[in-house]
Amino acid sequence: MAPVVCPRLIHGGNYIKEGRDSAKSTCLIFSPYEEDEVGSLGKYLQLFVKHKVNLLHIESRSSLRRPNNYEFMVDCAPGGNIASVIEALRDQCSYFSIISRNHKDNMNTVPWFPRRIRDLDKFANQILSYGAELDSDHPGFTDPMYRERRKYFADIAYYYKHGQPIPKVEYTAEETATWGVVFKNLTKLYPKYACKEHNHVFPLLIENCGYREDNIPQLEDISNFLKDSTGFTLRPVAGLLSSRDFLAGLAFRVFHSTQYIRHSSKPFYTPEPDICHEILGHVPLFADPSFAQFAQVIGLASLGAPDEYIEKLATCFWFTVEYGICRQNGELKAYGAGLLSSFGELEYCLSGKPELRPFDPPKTALQKYPITEYQPVYYVAENFEDAKEKMMKFAQSIPRKFGVRYDAYTQTISIIDSKQQIEALVNNVNQEVQILMDALRKLHH
Ligand SMILES: [Fe+2]
Repeated sequence: MAPVVCPRLIHGGNYIKEGRDSAKSTCLIFSPYEEDEVGSLGKYLQLFVKHKVNLLHIESRSSLRRPNNYEFMVDCAPGGNIASVIEALRDQCSYFSIISRNHKDNMNTVPWFPRRIRDLDKFANQILSYGAELDSDHPGFTDPMYRERRKYFADIAYYYKHGQPIPKVEYTAEETATWGVVFKNLTKLYPKYACKEHNHVFPLLIENCGYREDNIPQLEDISNFLKDSTGFTLRPVAGLLSSRDFLAGLAFRVFHSTQYIRHSSKPFYTPEPDICHEILGHVPLFADPSFAQFAQVIGLASLGAPDEYIEKLATCFWFTVEYGICRQNGELKAYGAGLLSSFGELEYCLSGKPELRPFDPPKTALQKYPITEYQPVYYVAENFEDAKEKMMKFAQSIPRKFGVRYDAYTQTISIIDSKQQIEALVNNVNQEVQILMDALRKLHH
């Protein structure tokens, strides 16, 4: 009867596995003064040698902040006298910024976040709980076959790298039967309780992605379908991610999805997200352009945000993407994936019993919620556009010294903190406006 639980921060963090690469590293971004050439990087690297700081990764790029300048990025391993390196670089560079996973210990640093879509590969070894480790009250705890399957799925996700096709899985007859029970019962409820966007996309998923009672669809097929619809893609995930990492994926329109299925003994219960939750609940909505934008707004707001705001954003995510209700033609409909994948709660949430409040991010962000029982309160969005506007306003209240923007051509996040970047972006917008004006003129003729 309980709804599924989605990735959220586990306080204390004692389940966090030590990362193998960038988890404890400090990333420095700096530009030399104009007269310096790209070869001047060597001069700066001497500083690291002198202060015994080991480097994990070095990059040079053309600077987007200053004309004719270069920009260097170095990833420093923990150890050595990094403080002295930082002091020297601050003195010698025209631009300098520090990005760190250990941002709490370093004042004036920006919490680390992925800048390129392939940086999401680094989350794989930051999982809060690995797939095969089940709690003693998990329905599959005493089932060795089930645990072995969970290990198999966790390994797929653990070794997955950006750009690879998601491995196709041959589901067992038992797994397919579990899916069949869930699929059959939920699809009966959708016409009455699901929002119109969900009902609009669902037949397309049946037609294009093999959504059928006797077939568990493949993540790769779904990811390709979403990519064509809104640019969203799926990434297999081995276990729970921290809220920070999970939300960061959304900034790139990447959704971390599980691939395993709940235990067959309890088809209507799962203590964690499974493939039924992801592809019946979440996927149809990610194919909707307005909803996709809304989800990305939460993701972009999370990048480099302080911890307390990550929790607020995760709470907003919970009451929208997971448990959201919206108003359509005077009726209330469910659009949250936790509702659309829970046989009992989908009916309950619209039964008139629970308390409903208007979605208002500053207030919604503070609401406490249970994760293993029905929600006592739901938040109602007028529509996705309105929810997005409100989320963007809320995002502006997050203390952050720079703006972020996703560049879909390079699949990178730009940190906007210079006039030159803004001028270049305004030029791009101007070009878009001209294309639209031209198209508009043609429509009139
Ligand atoms: Fe979810």
